[in-house]
Amino acid sequence: MIHSMNQPTTSSIRNIIADLRSDTFTQPGKGMRAAMASAEVGDDVFQEDPTILELEELVAGITGFEAAIYVPSGTMSNQIAINLQTRPGDSVLIEAESHVFIYEAGAGPALSGIQFDCVNSEDFMQWNDSAMALVREDSLHSATTSMIVLENTHNRHGGRVFPLSGLERIRAFRQSHKGVALHCDGARIWNAAAATDKDVSELLRGFDSASVCFSKGLGAPVGSALCGSRDLVARARKVRKRWGGGMRQAGIVAAGALYALRHHRERIGEDHLQAGVLAKLFRDLCAEHPEKALAAKTPNPQTNMVYLQVRPKKAQALVDALAAVGVLVLPTGGGWIRAVTHLDVRADAMPKVCSAFANCLKGL
Ligand SMILES: Cc1ncc(COP(=O)(O)O)c(C=O)c1O
Repeated sequence: MIHSMNQPTTSSIRNIIADLRSDTFTQPGKGMRAAMASAEVGDDVFQEDPTILELEELVAGITGFEAAIYVPSGTMSNQIAINLQTRPGDSVLIEAESHVFIYEAGAGPALSGIQFDCVNSEDFMQWNDSAMALVREDSLHSATTSMIVLENTHNRHGGRVFPLSGLERIRAFRQSHKGVALHCDGARIWNAAAATDKDVSELLRGFDSASVCFSKGLGAPVGSALCGSRDLVARARKVRKRWGGGMRQAGIVAAGALYALRHHRERIGEDHLQAGVLAKLFRDLCAEHPEKALAAKTPNPQTNMVYLQVRPKKAQALVDALAAVGVLVLPTGGGWIRAVTHLDVRADAMPKVCSAFANCLKGL
């Protein structure tokens, strides 16, 4: 049996107070739907979709790369980057909790024939000597490290921003190791930019490629972009086609992404404030009911994710009890429950969310 993480299904839940399972659960609002309905479209495989061309140009500008290509998902975007910057038998150095390593269905080895070398989180994020020691030089015996992939913000680390000091060191390393490509899984780079008050292009400076998503905190229904040099993006067009991701009049969905970039980027910091409210609640619950609320992974969240840990055997019961009163959260294993704030989690719903948590936890 193949397990899905997205339980429970929402069809049976009538009054949803807040869907905190992920920032991918946002619904397109009226303005976005209107923009989508009136989008000018063309055949994007022929690069004739004016809305997609506009989106790609805007994204390249914001990220500071020469070019960008619209793709259906963040997974495809990350995997095209790997495919283009490695050869079968190479190694990709990655942090052990990364989405690319854990949640992309084994795509790296399956589609590009690479192996991953995993570095523990702190070593990787500080890019210290232990991390660097795992970069494999080209030799007869070893898989050559041809790429480093980092994630900013970091999903499994509670939306943590990649430390700026680590970023500096990893850039300097890339400068002195020309053969090692540097890729950023920037699905939530918008959150990182808001949290650090830096431009997205500054956070991506020195990278060879980056994947950015419109369907997470920005609230668009579909799509991501792979950003890089003109040459990399031209070659990405062919891999996207090969993997079945060539789209035709997709400007109709890209219009949602364009709208999101223009209208939702500036407000993303508001989600961080709501995450702060939940974090305080989780801290309080841990203090008041230490036998039930065991730990909070993100006592002071930098962006839009918070995690609470309960006894593993009780996690599903808590998820179900919350769902029954209209608060949806995601169990992520080991008793951890994730709550993610986004543009459909309204500030005025937070008191109800907090009392639902407190009541359901007490009832465990
Ligand atoms: C950090 C990160 N990278 C990549 C992805 C993949 O995006 P998609 O679901 O569009 O394939 C996700 C999805 O949640 C993610 O959280």
